[in-house]
Amino acid sequence: MVPWATLLLLGLLFSCCCLGHSSLTGAPRVYLTYKELLETRTARPFSFNFNTSDYRILLVDQDQERLYLGARDFLVALDLHNINKEPLIIHWPALPNQENECRLAGKGQRGECFNYIRLMEPLNRTHLYACGTGAYHPVCILINRGWRSEEYLFRMVPHSLEPGKGKCPYDPRQPSMAVLINNTLYAGVHVDFMGTDAALFRTMGPRPAIRTEQHDSRWLYDPVFLQAHVIPDSSDHNDDKLYFFFREKALEGAVGPAVLARVGRVCLNDDGGQRSLLNKWTTFLKARLVCSVIGEDGVETFFDELRDVFLLPTQDEKHPLLYGVFSTLGSVFRGSAVCVYSMADIRTVFNGPFAHKEGHNYQWGPYTGRVPYPRPGACPGGTFTPGLRSTREFSDELVTFVRAHPLMFHAVYPLQRRPLLVRTNVPYSFTTLAVDLVDAVDGRYEVLFLGTDQGTVQKVIVLPKEQGILEELTLEEVEVFRVPAPVKTLWISSKRQQLYVSSDMGVSQLSLHRCREYGEACADCCLARDPYCAWDGQRCARYSHTAKRRSRRQDIKHGDPLRQCRGFNAKATTVGSQTCA
Ligand SMILES: *[C@@H]1O[C@H](CO)[C@@H](O)[C@H](O)[C@H]1NC(C)=O
Ligand SMILES: *[C@@H]1O[C@H](CO)[C@@H](O)[C@H](O)[C@H]1NC(C)=O
Ligand SMILES: *[C@@H]1O[C@H](CO)[C@@H](O)[C@H](O)[C@H]1NC(C)=O
Repeated sequence: MVPWATLLLLGLLFSCCCLGHSSLTGAPRVYLTYKELLETRTARPFSFNFNTSDYRILLVDQDQERLYLGARDFLVALDLHNINKEPLIIHWPALPNQENECRLAGKGQRGECFNYIRLMEPLNRTHLYACGTGAYHPVCILINRGWRSEEYLFRMVPHSLEPGKGKCPYDPRQPSMAVLINNTLYAGVHVDFMGTDAALFRTMGPRPAIRTEQHDSRWLYDPVFLQAHVIPDSSDHNDDKLYFFFREKALEGAVGPAVLARVGRVCLNDDGGQRSLLNKWTTFLKARLVCSVIGEDGVETFFDELRDVFLLPTQDEKHPLLYGVFSTLGSVFRGSAVCVYSMADIRTVFNGPFAHKEGHNYQWGPYTGRVPYPRPGACPGGTFTPGLRSTREFSDELVTFVRAHPLMFHAVYPLQRRPLLVRTNVPYSFTTLAVDLVDAVDGRYEVLFLGTDQGTVQKVIVLPKEQGILEELTLEEVEVFRVPAPVKTLWISSKRQQLYVSSDMGVSQLSLHRCREYGEACADCCLARDPYCAWDGQRCARYSHTAKRRSRRQDIKHGDPLRQCRGFNAKATTVGSQTCA
């Protein structure tokens, strides 16, 4: 905890003496090494005595209070309260003949000839569906987890093994996404052994299997799929769409960035075309997500490499907030940013002009000709197409238009047209994020948990200051793994106040707060400005907004210990009397 005393001193100077904004962007108030974190007894690494790695897939099951984990050759069911309490284990290695074939095909030098779990989704109340790479031979199985966790049931269903093509990649290094809704699987995945054909697939379920157009870079251009969510667009379920997030090579031209962030969408009730786009999506559209900063010189710097997306639900299920983590890996400029998007802005872009290009030597522009009816991207039977029963009834003109115009002309900009958080010239980049809404004495705060490529998790709040300036406070940074490795997945449980973090090297569970680490005095607690924590008269402790107000001292907005700590020791323990007294 080296920077702690210095930071506290600076914190005191800044907040008590009104020196303006805190300029120590990204420097955490508390930094805990792995050893120090374990000493606080607020974190628990999962210890697994099997030879495995690549703990990428985490699935939280709130009903059964379990955390399902998919790693190399293993599926594990953990207790959400204590991930080391009696884990239930399924060993699911690749079949020996598949492993041999994998090696004969010249693979295996980088550990590809194992069964890497890449999908684990709830199928119904009692069963999970899981898929693995199967040594370059994707396979899927059913898992029986029983009705209740007390049954301690976690077992592969005999004879349920089936091909996983179109659900899980062959190559474990190729990222994929999948979501299982109403027995229907939507997967963004590479579907061939060579790993050159990436598509958004729909399989299983009652509707026909469909995919994106093959070998058409206007649709998908070397995509890296990240996440997919069903977000309703109206009260009519026929309008329900799958929104998905990915990055891909830029189509827009050689001058711009090499990689762009995208939001795409399809209608859940798409059945494909009748004469053309047979068994292909006829409602597929995509748009660019912009996350950029404008420097004092007016130059716009873009963060285009989308790494992760977090969907924060609101009261209205049609309007979740979307948090994206971006990075940029330019040669001169390295950094990360978090941008927040509204569904209203995303829908506006999808309702706007389509991107169009006359020919090879032309620039992309807005399509100004007549747009077919119903409007491309509208779902059959929904608000805008009441008379139609299926996409197979779409006119040839509509299908031809959709095929050639999957991209929207306008890009989606973040709220306030700027990032919520930016980090530049730091030796790390963000890889993942999760967001929690926390009620404090003086309001509700969004707390960001950000995983880094160095195996740490940062806890950050962003406060509005005068004239629309944002103040970023990094409350803490903790090393979550014994062996540092980039954070792959974060799962937050607000209900349980726990964060589950995974990487290639391990899985850890940590509490969302460690109030006592801020120090022994009221001032320490107050200056920390952590919405989870308040001075309770004796120590810095978990604040609950249902507790009596007067007994809790907390001031997130100003962090002013003079006002809050009257009658208590208003001085921070680790700093002398040279500041506010
Ligand atoms: C674990 O598995 C890897 C890959 O097969 C192997 O190289 C390594 O030796 C194994 N380690 C132990 C302790 O068995
Ligand atoms: C869940 O699905 C499995 C496989 O289709 C089936 O055997 C099981 O009965 C289903 N359970 C429920 C509760 O519907
Ligand atoms: C799943 O199917 C049921 C019954 O058909 C429907 O009411 C529900 O809206 C569907 N859920 C989603 C997410 O589409």
